[in-house]
Amino acid sequence: MKGIILGGGLGTRLYPMTKITNKHLLPVYDMPMIYYPIFTLVEAGINEIILVTGGNSAGEFLRLLGDGRQFGIKTLSYTYQEKEGGIAQAMMLCSEFIGKEKCVVILGDNILDGSIKNAVKDFQKEKGAKIILKEVQNPSDYGVPVIEGNKIKEVIEKPKNPPSNYAVIGVYMYNPDVFEMVKTLKPSARGELEISDVNDWYAKQGQLTYEIFKGWWGDAGVSVDTLLEVNNYVAKRKKENPDYWCFRNAGQSAGK
Ligand code: G1P
Repeated sequence: MKGIILGGGLGTRLYPMTKITNKHLLPVYDMPMIYYPIFTLVEAGINEIILVTGGNSAGEFLRLLGDGRQFGIKTLSYTYQEKEGGIAQAMMLCSEFIGKEKCVVILGDNILDGSIKNAVKDFQKEKGAKIILKEVQNPSDYGVPVIEGNKIKEVIEKPKNPPSNYAVIGVYMYNPDVFEMVKTLKPSARGELEISDVNDWYAKQGQLTYEIFKGWWGDAGVSVDTLLEVNNYVAKRKKENPDYWCFRNAGQSAGK
């Protein structure tokens, strides 16, 4: 399986910090935000990765990450999203790189303290798509699933009246047919190709599986407060246990 990391966008919810730089280059405690999703993929055994960037300071990712070797990445490719067209549109830029393989997509501002290795392993035997859920207090800030029995029937992006207390976290797994599906998408009210519409399509085909994430998860891009929360969490975790793999293994050799 190959990996896609999304590191574009304007990061307007974090203005003015993102006015001149890319959100994913901002610090999460002692490392740039983008390191963490890289650790997550590499730990799960994904070593062919493409990074989609865009917005401010897009070129700086090359200087920071180079060819990715120091993270244990075999092939690191880059692509550029010219306009903010949404997560699904950014994924389309990766279709040639992914080819006929399955892929794991991770959003560059999602910080996971825990492994996705088992979910990735399970998905190798599955069809369609797989998402990862986490119970949260503010589901309206996220994609939210409608769960009936043990099946996801629907996925709704940032619903005013959330049908469950689960957030769809920014880690998605797809069969290569996802690119054909994305071609059929229409932009949402905010003019973007929404990842929740992709997941909703698979749910309606009865081909969307899920896992509840057991570790800690934070979306550092929602607001300045969540960015601070994520920073505080990671700082505490690293001080308590500097050897903990989630935040260290790949980082060790990655210029630390
Ligand atoms: C995006 C997705 C949303 C998902 C979230 C996870 O939202 O659109 O479905 O729950 O990431 O981090 P964003 O934070 O980009 O608004």
